[in-house]
Amino acid sequence: MQSVKHQLATIVAEATNVSVADCETWIEYPPNRDLGDLALPCFRFARHLRQSPQQIAETLALRIEQSGLFAEAVATGGFVNIRIHRPQFAKELLETAQTDIEQVLSNRRGTGEIVAIDYSSPNIAKPFGVGHLRSTIIGEALHRMLKADGYRPVGINHLGDWGTQFGKNIVAYLKWGDEATVRANPVRELFALYVRFHQEAQSHPELDEEARMWFKKLEDGDEEAVRLWKWFIEESLKGFAQTYQLLGVSFDHYLGESFYNDKMAAVVDELRSKGLLVESDGAEVVDLSAWDMPPCIIRKSDGATIYATRDLAAAKYRHDILGATKLLYVVGSEQTLHFQQVFKVLELMGDAWATGCTHVSFGMMKYNGERLSTRRGKVVYLEEVLERAVQEARAIIDTKNPDLEDKDRVARQVGVGAVIFNDLKTYRVHDVDFRYEDVLNFDGETGPYVQYTHARCCSVLRKNGEKLGPLNLEDFVTLTDTEWSLIRWLAEANETFERAVDGFDPSILARYVLRVCQAFNRFYHDHPILTADSPTKKRRLAMTEATRNVIRQVLFLLAVESPEAM
Ligand code: ARG
Repeated sequence: MQSVKHQLATIVAEATNVSVADCETWIEYPPNRDLGDLALPCFRFARHLRQSPQQIAETLALRIEQSGLFAEAVATGGFVNIRIHRPQFAKELLETAQTDIEQVLSNRRGTGEIVAIDYSSPNIAKPFGVGHLRSTIIGEALHRMLKADGYRPVGINHLGDWGTQFGKNIVAYLKWGDEATVRANPVRELFALYVRFHQEAQSHPELDEEARMWFKKLEDGDEEAVRLWKWFIEESLKGFAQTYQLLGVSFDHYLGESFYNDKMAAVVDELRSKGLLVESDGAEVVDLSAWDMPPCIIRKSDGATIYATRDLAAAKYRHDILGATKLLYVVGSEQTLHFQQVFKVLELMGDAWATGCTHVSFGMMKYNGERLSTRRGKVVYLEEVLERAVQEARAIIDTKNPDLEDKDRVARQVGVGAVIFNDLKTYRVHDVDFRYEDVLNFDGETGPYVQYTHARCCSVLRKNGEKLGPLNLEDFVTLTDTEWSLIRWLAEANETFERAVDGFDPSILARYVLRVCQAFNRFYHDHPILTADSPTKKRRLAMTEATRNVIRQVLFLLAVESPEAM
């Protein structure tokens, strides 16, 4: 959908020789809409044009009026206040949004550039807690958003499948584990064994030595060590797969940390040949003191490579082999320093594409106000959270709409959607608090509220049944302010989408769709649709259809399903 701002910016850009993009960012939506639908503060152009803001405003007002695209343009106090030609604007907008779903929220600014997105990336033999939810959900939404904008996103699950902890997992399993129990409940059982290892090791420090030995065996390719390690991965992945399926999340590649075992030597060699490696207490590091950062450790004193080294190798793989020009890492803010170090080292290695690396960080997930930690064994399991949300959604549906068809399916869509939406409506960098009552509140700023509004649109359209005829300008002469307000919100879809993509922040879209729903529900409450006279009815049905399409597309981008009835 062509935004009004863009149309206006094009006219202004031509008259001022300022770029369309700049003009577009300067155009405002005045808080007091009595003054106009759009406002252009002309002091922005004063330096460039060497005229007073009021003079500029007068010239521009004339040009805007002459374009015939706007109803009125008035210069006052250094501003141009612009009124949109409402009937014409509404008609054009609805014609696109009503029928051409492809044009709603898919701007296709990209031209197929490959963007690698690292998300979810849980650790093998550890629980996928609600804390991991954020990365998974934000990453999936970014994948969908970038695709809709014309990029080629490549989703990568950078599984934590390597490290000394596997020595501990093996020891614990051999001592206290049981195959059938692990198979029955892999993630939970493996984690329980791991927690037990830490408890027992407090009074039996020799266990740590044993674990080190087993990890060494694993590194040396010992048959039994490798077999157990592979089996842990396989079982854990079965557990994760259920969660991914429930959430509707998928990846283009599962490339765990171990995948880079044979790719790190080249990185170490390159660092050495470029003179970037220095020795520090027997370890090899890249000195980053010039950038006020602690050194990036590449190789520990025992020769083992670590997390950062794997990330360097992984970044090169994503760029060199997968062809990515932008690399996104959807990882919690506690790893900010790690990514700053990795990106700086890439830059020092002379990799120009290092500037295309972004740490898409996010705040923590609190559960009923409490922080979660895996280390202390206090874990909230994501499947449990989702299951409970689905059950509660089912209970709500049973009371509100007992005759609904396919209740189980809808309860799943609503319960899971509620959890996802709650996460995504929070500004990415803020902490998310999770409470069932808030998340599932049908009247709050929630997933179910948005889904319910979508279902309401579907119901109106179903009741009408017949196909809508083409729209005419005359259908819009009685447009009310409430209707106009909905049109205005719908018209902001594309610029909102672009802001969300540019900021890698799905919350911008989630908050936007809430505003659309509020505008629609006000309209629905104040105005009859099906019983209105014929031109009014036609227009209102078109608005309902356009609203449905915008909501559905936004929810799709956020990986939330849109049931047609609930
Ligand atoms: N497995 C890591 C963790 O749970 C996250 C990995 C993030 N991705 C990366 N390329 N470092 O903390």
